[in-house]
Amino acid sequence: MLRYVTTNAGKVREAETYLADGTVRQLDFDYTEIQADSLAPIAARGAREAYREAGGPVLVDDAGLFIEALDGFPGPYSSYIENTLGIDRVWEVARDLENRRAAFRCTLAYCDGDDFAATPDPIDRGDRSAAAAAGPTRDTDGTSAAGSTEPAPATDGLPVKLFQGAVPGRIVAPRGDGGFGYDPIFEHDGETLAEMSTAAKNAVSHRGRALETFAEWYADR
Ligand code: IMP
Repeated sequence: MLRYVTTNAGKVREAETYLADGTVRQLDFDYTEIQADSLAPIAARGAREAYREAGGPVLVDDAGLFIEALDGFPGPYSSYIENTLGIDRVWEVARDLENRRAAFRCTLAYCDGDDFAATPDPIDRGDRSAAAAAGPTRDTDGTSAAGSTEPAPATDGLPVKLFQGAVPGRIVAPRGDGGFGYDPIFEHDGETLAEMSTAAKNAVSHRGRALETFAEWYADR
């Protein structure tokens, strides 16, 4: 059983369309989102923490909107910017840019406690030497992340397999009622993601593309 670590049931339904029946189940677990300037280390760290919680295979995703003329901003800070500024103000910032090209990117991070054979998709190995030196991973209050007072296994050096997907587009004035997040201000092929049906969005979305690559690999795992 693969656990998709998310508070969003819609993501699990999307994953189900790529994976064999009954393969994936939601794990509603709030892992620590570290600060980093790219998505991969955030998702990889989350996958290790979630694996420690679940004790079995887990999939964590991290996504963001990358605006070309703003050097990729808000990128890994997309969630924070959506919750603080809001998408209308992101549009106000982008409106005056000559180049409004942008991309949604998604990184999926998979961890099942074992190592991986080499494939073109990257593997994040964390910091094995630091993990070994530090011993078992503990929270600052001395308990493990799962809340137990038992020492947690040292998961910091566990290999995590990463899968990436992206969808190109441009920032436009808000249009459409569907989707979520930045969908109304992100246009792909003449339509904003908020104007597309769920199926049409999933067919082009960053997460859909990452899930497709993951599902192909996972079928052989
Ligand atoms: P998360 O990684 O799914 O938590 O998403 C990070 C940020 O990107 C949040 O602000 C989301 O609303 C936004 N986001 C992620 N995926 C999408 C999408 O498919 N459409 C619009 N916004 C998204």
